[in-house]
Amino acid sequence: PHLSPEDLKALVRTVPDFPKPGIQFRDITTLIGHHQGMAASVHHLAELADAAGAHKIAGMEARGFIFGAAVAVQLGIGFVPVRKPGKLPIETIGIDYALEYGTDRLEMDPGAIEPGQKVVMVDDLIATGGTALASAELLRKAGAVIETALFVIDLPDLGGAQRLRAAGIDVRALMDFE
Ligand code: PRP
Ligand code: HPA
Repeated sequence: PHLSPEDLKALVRTVPDFPKPGIQFRDITTLIGHHQGMAASVHHLAELADAAGAHKIAGMEARGFIFGAAVAVQLGIGFVPVRKPGKLPIETIGIDYALEYGTDRLEMDPGAIEPGQKVVMVDDLIATGGTALASAELLRKAGAVIETALFVIDLPDLGGAQRLRAAGIDVRALMDFE
């Protein structure tokens, strides 16, 4: 019997004023440090990814690797890392995307996905959705069919899940923090 999403929510640590005053940072360190917490998070995400018909799991650096890789192993499918720039030792494809101040970039192996494979994205948290939207666009450039994005935590007030849904991506999260 796995811990319920409600039990999992109690394992997330909230840190006030990080990284800036006024931000309540939802920290998964305590969730993943708890054996049943980690196992149940992966179990619930894997059930959703399986229901979505995943051929591969993509995870966003860095915290998306923790959950995404474990979900891929649980389902017996491959894992695709969506990386911060300059990390992969090959010719990559990349995408630049806007942040509140400035821009950021994500990169991946252009040969990581066979054209038409259904790739389910996994990350620890969705806030504005900027990371997930850019990742979806990049994975699609690599040939992926992106229909589903899974998160441990949704911060619905920041609108990310709504932005993804408006872009035609089904969004599921194990818990919300208002
Ligand atoms: C965090 C989080 C998501 C993203 C969510 O990662 O893990 O990937 O931000 O924010 P968004 O929905 O507004 O794009 P971060 O960039 O802090 O990197 P890390 O995983 O390396 O800590
Ligand atoms: N917690 C963790 N990561 C985040 C958060 C948060 O509250 N907001 C944006 N990225």
